Amino acid sequence: MTTANTTTEFAVEARDLKRSYKIPRGLFKDPAILQAVGGVSFRVRAGKTLAVVGESGCGKSTLARMISLIEKPSAGELNIQGVDAVGASDENKKKLRRAVQLVFQNPEGSLNPRKKVGAILEAPLEINTDLNAAERAQAAKAMLALVGLRPEHYDRYPHMFSGGQRQRIAIARALMLKPALVVADEPVSALDVSIQAQVLNLLSDLQQSLGLAYLFISHDLGVVRHIAHDVLVMYLGHAVEQGEKNALFAQPLHPYTQALLASTPALAGSTDAKQRVVLTGELPSPLNPPSGCVFSTRCPHVTERCKQERPVLRELAGRQVACHHAEIFLTQV
Ligand SMILES: Nc1ncnc2c1ncn2[C@@H]1O[C@H](COP(=O)(O)OP(=O)(O)O)[C@@H](O)[C@H]1O
Ligand SMILES: [Mg+2]
Repeated sequence: MTTANTTTEFAVEARDLKRSYKIPRGLFKDPAILQAVGGVSFRVRAGKTLAVVGESGCGKSTLARMISLIEKPSAGELNIQGVDAVGASDENKKKLRRAVQLVFQNPEGSLNPRKKVGAILEAPLEINTDLNAAERAQAAKAMLALVGLRPEHYDRYPHMFSGGQRQRIAIARALMLKPALVVADEPVSALDVSIQAQVLNLLSDLQQSLGLAYLFISHDLGVVRHIAHDVLVMYLGHAVEQGEKNALFAQPLHPYTQALLASTPALAGSTDAKQRVVLTGELPSPLNPPSGCVFSTRCPHVTERCKQERPVLRELAGRQVACHHAEIFLTQV
């Protein structure tokens, strides 16, 4: 079986990743360019979780598709397990695709309803390994146990399971080829809150026991709080703040991060009054983003400079923030 190389310090290193789409505007006009991801850089530490958060449409799934090699970046560098994933040979790409597995929000859509769970779990082994049928069955049953399902589930169809159980099956399938990185795109967003916690606990346990790195995508900072080590906050395709989770939650330095925190009921109490930003106004169209700071049209602290000049990410208080005025949120400890 293929065992991914887990000795690399970073499961993923992304530098200035961009992805844009051409949007047709009819026969006589040139297509519009929509920049879904406008230059994002980050590292996912081996065995750790980087959470990507932001409202719907900010580019999270586009990022997920680039990292899992489903879609090519329009520009930028991407290293997976220390290997250049953009310029890799087909053979190397095949290896990298095994090292990176995806889990989606909606397991219904990704589990073949006509296949039994056993067959679903064994399919990746059949394609990618030399294991015989008995060995594949054994591996699938061991994986069922690992994700908290029972041996008799092996012979059942996906529709016979609850949403949470189906997500366990999707996670099990993702792990069959022993990936180093799992890209989980809103993996608990469709689940009831009580079930969310169970699946998050499972993901944490699996990370511990298997040394997995996660790129964990969510629109919900409350979910991220449990599972992240590092956090990347995105707005309209740009990273506005990123860094170690505890620092970022204790003292969010970007007004957008502050607004996200304030709108998360379980977390709102932890920010001080100065940082209790309420998000107003509409998310601008990504086809026509604000010219200066991408958040300037909704920011309560906006100044003339913000409307003119896009702030670059810069180091402040141990993390990176893209705000001209972030210093005003630094409180003395
Ligand atoms: N294949 C595509 N073609 C055109 N536009 C796309 C495509 N995929 C995503 N987009 C656009 O890119 C932006 C980011 O989308 P997405 O990555 O799905 O965001 P999120 O996952 O954060 O909701 C959105 O404006 C979306 O409409
Ligand atoms: Mg999405």
